[in-house]
Amino acid sequence: MSDHYSCALITGASAGLGEEFAFQLAPRVHKMVLVARREERLAVIADRLRERFPHVAVAVFSADLTLPSHREQLVDLLEQRGFIPDLLVNNAGMGDYGEFANADWDKLDAMLQLNITALTHLTHALLPHMMNRGYGAVVNVSSLASLLPIPDFAVYAATKAYVTSFSEALRIEAREYGISVLAVCPGPVHTEFGEVARQNGGDSDMPGREWFYVDKEQVVAESISALDADKARVYTGWQVAAAAVLISAVPLVLLRLILGTRPRRG
Ligand SMILES: NC(=O)c1ccc[n+]([C@@H]2O[C@H](COP(=O)([O-])OP(=O)(O)OC[C@H]3O[C@@H](n4cnc5c(N)ncnc54)[C@H](OP(=O)(O)O)[C@@H]3O)[C@@H](O)[C@H]2O)c1
Repeated sequence: MSDHYSCALITGASAGLGEEFAFQLAPRVHKMVLVARREERLAVIADRLRERFPHVAVAVFSADLTLPSHREQLVDLLEQRGFIPDLLVNNAGMGDYGEFANADWDKLDAMLQLNITALTHLTHALLPHMMNRGYGAVVNVSSLASLLPIPDFAVYAATKAYVTSFSEALRIEAREYGISVLAVCPGPVHTEFGEVARQNGGDSDMPGREWFYVDKEQVVAESISALDADKARVYTGWQVAAAAVLISAVPLVLLRLILGTRPRRG
């Protein structure tokens, strides 16, 4: 598989892992499309990218990816402006931390639309272009949470189980067209994710040990190495990779007992 692409599209590029993907991928591409809702943030990031990487043509599209009409407009604009990606990074995602029964439905619905529907829709719209070219790559940002049901993170973990499963199956279908598909499975990373995931605007943080956190720079660097090596999946950081091995080895009956002792929200 190629380690150079002509055009990368990164969703959720206004913050966190998406912004980091933009900076680490810029040396390898000629064109880059940054997508998120906050246009001013994207504009600032685009200016910094143009300054550091003058060879890259950077386009910014403000879109709320939970809305089908915005996704359709985005695809139309990409076609009109010649920014069809051969590297699609489906990174935009959100969580909702807290008991399912107390969750705000609109937030859950937005999470389902963003984490599942938007990722699937953009892949469906852009994959045929890669197939026609005979090369390309799709990077789906999933999570370690995709490996197990997580109480107080029930819907989020289920959306990421979808992302990992979808990526694995799509990888098999797409490889005969020369297209790589990678599922990135990070553990906790300090980004805006935790703030967005807090339920009902509360101040209750998600439980998590600091040593388990991995820097966003490392998460993205390991993801790009995995893409270069045409891997199916990457768990970023040794501690997350070790946790993945452990989770996969523990029988479900035991996992249920362990998960039942979860720290409760105050
Ligand atoms: N941080 C973690 O601990 C962690 C762990 C495992 C997996 N992940 C996954 O990593 C990915 C990136 O998350 P992050 O940690 O970088 O979080 P983040 O800092 O909150 O960034 C999320 C990005 O998604 C964009 N976004 C949110 N809602 C959107 C919408 N409706 N339409 C378009 N864009 C939207 C945000 O931009 P706007 O607000 O400007 O729209 C932002 O650019 C997610 O898929 C997340 O599930 C994160």
